[in-house]
Amino acid sequence: MPADLSFRKLTAINLPLLHEWLRREHVHRWWQEPEDYEEFAKQYLPAIEGRDPTRMFLIELGGRPVGFIQTFLLRDYPERDELVHTGPGVAGVDLFIAEPELTGKGLGTAVLRRFTSEIVFADQLATACVGDPDVENPASIRAFERAGFRRAGVFVEPVSATPTSRTPPRSAPSRGPASAGRECSSSPRTAGRTCSCVSIAIRRAAELSASS
Ligand SMILES: CC(C)(COP(=O)(O)OP(=O)(O)OC[C@H]1O[C@@H](n2cnc3c(N)ncnc32)[C@H](O)[C@@H]1OP(=O)(O)O)[C@@H](O)C(=O)NCCC(=O)NCCS
Repeated sequence: MPADLSFRKLTAINLPLLHEWLRREHVHRWWQEPEDYEEFAKQYLPAIEGRDPTRMFLIELGGRPVGFIQTFLLRDYPERDELVHTGPGVAGVDLFIAEPELTGKGLGTAVLRRFTSEIVFADQLATACVGDPDVENPASIRAFERAGFRRAGVFVEPVSATPTSRTPPRSAPSRGPASAGRECSSSPRTAGRTCSCVSIAIRRAAELSASS
């Protein structure tokens, strides 16, 4: 695990960088946010300003920002909770590594291990943590599994006209059961059209935290 890995709270100053990262092909494939900067900022500012309970962080390596990670309690986002079927005390986590050349080298696994131990389970309310990678995203599924998560079930995000937005979950209608769905760009089969997408709920219990 890289010793110089750390997490720094996202601030409004970081939003242009985050917006640029989300437009990179390897990130955009799995995580879409509004291309319009004002619209994008409107989605992220409430959490930064404490008006939304999602906690957002830059992933830093040797003090250099290299990615983004966020966590939230599912109970604060009932629509997503209902979709993923979690239970009380369960936290969610979403992440990406922004530099393509840093992917596939164990960094995502290390980030998930460190972040769940130091941030997610440091919150006494969190008894378990879930991720929900797309079934067609083996790198993400593998990174979660290597970090101690186990497959807990598969769920389908229903069709909608809105693209996938992961952040913040409550204000992201595409992640909720009523209107979930995404404009699939993740596979040649579905590229360019709106469809249902299948995600794996992947879960890690708090008690594993100390042993990893
Ligand atoms: C998903 C992500 C965070 C994982 O981080 P990472 O640093 O690349 O992950 P790791 O290197 O720790 O682990 C990836 C594992 O997947 C494997 N993998 C990568 N591509 C794969 C593929 N196409 N098929 C099968 N396994 C694959 C790697 O070999 C590695 O496993 P191994 O160490 O057993 O060989 C990162 O790749 C990323 O940000 N991707 C773009 C955005 C994204 O997908 N975010 C997740 C949304 S849920």
